[in-house]
Amino acid sequence: MMICSLRSQSVRPLHGSEFVSGSKSLIPTKRSSLLPPLPARKISRQLTLSLSRPLHISSVESFGSSGTSARKDDGLIKCEAYEADRSEAAASAAGSDVAKRVKIGIYFATWWALNVVFNIYNKKVLNAYPYPWLTSTLSLATGSLMMLISWATRIAETPKTDFEFWKTLFPVAVAHTIGHVAATVSMSKVAVSFTHIIKSGEPAFSVLVSRFLLGETFPASVYLSLVPIIGGCALAAVTELNFNMIGFMGAMISNLAFVFRNIFSKRGMKGKSVSGMNYYACLSMLSLVILTPFAIAVEGPQMWAAGFQKALSDIGPQIVWWMAAQSVFYHLYNQVSYMSLDEISPLTFSIGNTMKRISVIVSSIIIFHTPVQPVNALGAAIAVLGTFLYSQAKQ
Ligand code: 3PG
Repeated sequence: MMICSLRSQSVRPLHGSEFVSGSKSLIPTKRSSLLPPLPARKISRQLTLSLSRPLHISSVESFGSSGTSARKDDGLIKCEAYEADRSEAAASAAGSDVAKRVKIGIYFATWWALNVVFNIYNKKVLNAYPYPWLTSTLSLATGSLMMLISWATRIAETPKTDFEFWKTLFPVAVAHTIGHVAATVSMSKVAVSFTHIIKSGEPAFSVLVSRFLLGETFPASVYLSLVPIIGGCALAAVTELNFNMIGFMGAMISNLAFVFRNIFSKRGMKGKSVSGMNYYACLSMLSLVILTPFAIAVEGPQMWAAGFQKALSDIGPQIVWWMAAQSVFYHLYNQVSYMSLDEISPLTFSIGNTMKRISVIVSSIIIFHTPVQPVNALGAAIAVLGTFLYSQAKQ
């Protein structure tokens, strides 16, 4: 513990952690919430403090009305402080790093698990009730409702948005809607694993769009990593036993749409104070508004009602639970993925997304007994490996 004296020429509020290590003259900049307000008459004077080591302020006399020091009037403030302990600081930095890693690990594990469950229920519903436009709409509607309830009951903080926010969100929502419907249409026509193998080609779309539409350039290693991605996807597609053109094109369109969604999101989220969770909630709501008229036009209530009667007689009332599960899990996995995007770089996010596809591909093959030829599995493995090489090349 050491004692030092501050000559109060201009007393500005100070905070120990705001001092710069090694600086000879330390002038704090921000108001600490830990310190009481200063007497108004001292505000205009200058503070100087000479130190050679960083200090943590432990007590300050004459700050605030309760100060008892007799030296208030001669301009001196007695301040007790102790030298900052470097090992203490390093340990707390390492501790917060570990805590952050654990938090991201939990986000990733939750995101993948929720996504696997969503994909399973989504496919079960689509097998029994093949109306992808309606099921896509229901997932957005359920998510929107969940978030409205969370805001109303103050489980989640209501975001402060303005017209500008919704205007910037619009292109993101258009791309999200297209990508979501296209992926669901794809899964209604082909195996879940096949949709996700094609969707693992998303980095290739990202590079091609960035290169040819935005004029961005990349190192040669990035372009080279596209060879296994595209080659692997192509090999998996031509050897797919249940190949279907709509299923294939749906996954391809979804890839393209999500690349645009990510580009627009990045621009739209810059400088915005809306959290990842609320950003996704607003995205769901706007996408729901965009999608509903199209869903009615493409499929419509008559087809939905007739299809529902059939599904009910084939599956029983359980179909309702499956639909509820696919909708709730769709919202939850997206919400968690946007929450993790708040914490990590887009690159780490895309690596996480690829890992997610591996878990979805493997679990759906096991659960739905999807027939897989060795050469087909090889194509999928090459595509996924290419995505890893891509993420390494982009670092
Ligand atoms: C959807 O329905 O939006 C897709 O299943 C999304 O796929 P992804 O989040 O795995 O890219």
